[in-house]
Amino acid sequence: MDIKTVGVVGCGLMGHGIVQVAAQGGFKVLAHDNYPGALEQGKKRIEESLTKLGEKAVEKGKLTPEKAAAMKEAALSRIEFAPDREGLVVCDLVIEAAIENLDLKKDLFADLGRLLPENTLLASNTSSFPILEMANASGRPEKTLGLHFFNPVQLMRLVEVVGTDKTDPEAIAAGHSFARSCGKTSINCKDTPGFVVNRLLVPFMVQALLMLERGDAAMDDIDTAMNLGCGHPMGPITLADYVGLDTSLFILEGWCESYPDEPAFRVPDILRQKVREGKLGRKTGEGFFRWEGDRKLES
Ligand code: 3HC
Repeated sequence: MDIKTVGVVGCGLMGHGIVQVAAQGGFKVLAHDNYPGALEQGKKRIEESLTKLGEKAVEKGKLTPEKAAAMKEAALSRIEFAPDREGLVVCDLVIEAAIENLDLKKDLFADLGRLLPENTLLASNTSSFPILEMANASGRPEKTLGLHFFNPVQLMRLVEVVGTDKTDPEAIAAGHSFARSCGKTSINCKDTPGFVVNRLLVPFMVQALLMLERGDAAMDDIDTAMNLGCGHPMGPITLADYVGLDTSLFILEGWCESYPDEPAFRVPDILRQKVREGKLGRKTGEGFFRWEGDRKLES
């Protein structure tokens, strides 16, 4: 399974990052999204991110300004923005990074299964849904796997490679090889709720919000505690804002419904309340904290 051309469906927060790291890894990439404006927005984010990474490399003396500019141009030259899904027929691997809606994803996998040549691998970047549901919908479960990247994709070094009981071991090996070429370290995980990271991370954020709800500690103190006491780069409440409170709520509600006997899956009232108020975290400029772009403002 030799992967040379990669398609990414969805050019939002995660999708644009996957497009970028794949292009930086030397793959030809087709970015597809049919939401109006998404491709333009994704392209802008990729250009900004490549500029930033180039500036950082120059600052650290790793690249000359000329080499940094060449690196940016080389990555951009490998990306094609494809508004038509039919364009994806040339891909060896297509990664879905659409919004977290299982029905939408299943329809998409069914469509990709019909459209793409039979050897094309399919992968989902879902945070919380069973890969098997999408694999079965695609009609090619042996060629379908999970490739779970982390936010911000350009900086986070992990990819979870998720195989179902039906995934061909060669497809899993190809997933690891692809992730490595994108500069990531990959791990194996079974098709379980939240895989490794979100299964641990989401209940951790829940416990932090329950502490806040009970008044055990103030949110800055909770975050500082985990920041300095455990060396986490972001405290759990900052991280909840960073990931998006709607995303966290959506994941938790789905899990509570599917696994009512799992005590780690609970929805704190304070989380529902923020989402009801439209305070979704970094993306709306306010969640538990206030934000200006990527920067958290002093509370
Ligand atoms: N591209 C290029 N550069 C970027 C960037 C991007 N996408 N995003 C941020 N940067 C830059 C920043 O602008 C900043 O540059 P500056 O120093 O010139 O201002 C630099 O990278 C970041 O460096 P900083 O020193 O400012 O910040 P940190 O050292 O704190 O690193 C971080 C930022 C990597 C985001 C770090 O805080 C971190 O690791 N946070 C935790 C993130 C995390 O846990 N992610 C996983 C979320 S869970 C998930 O994704 C699963 C999903 O399914 C929900």
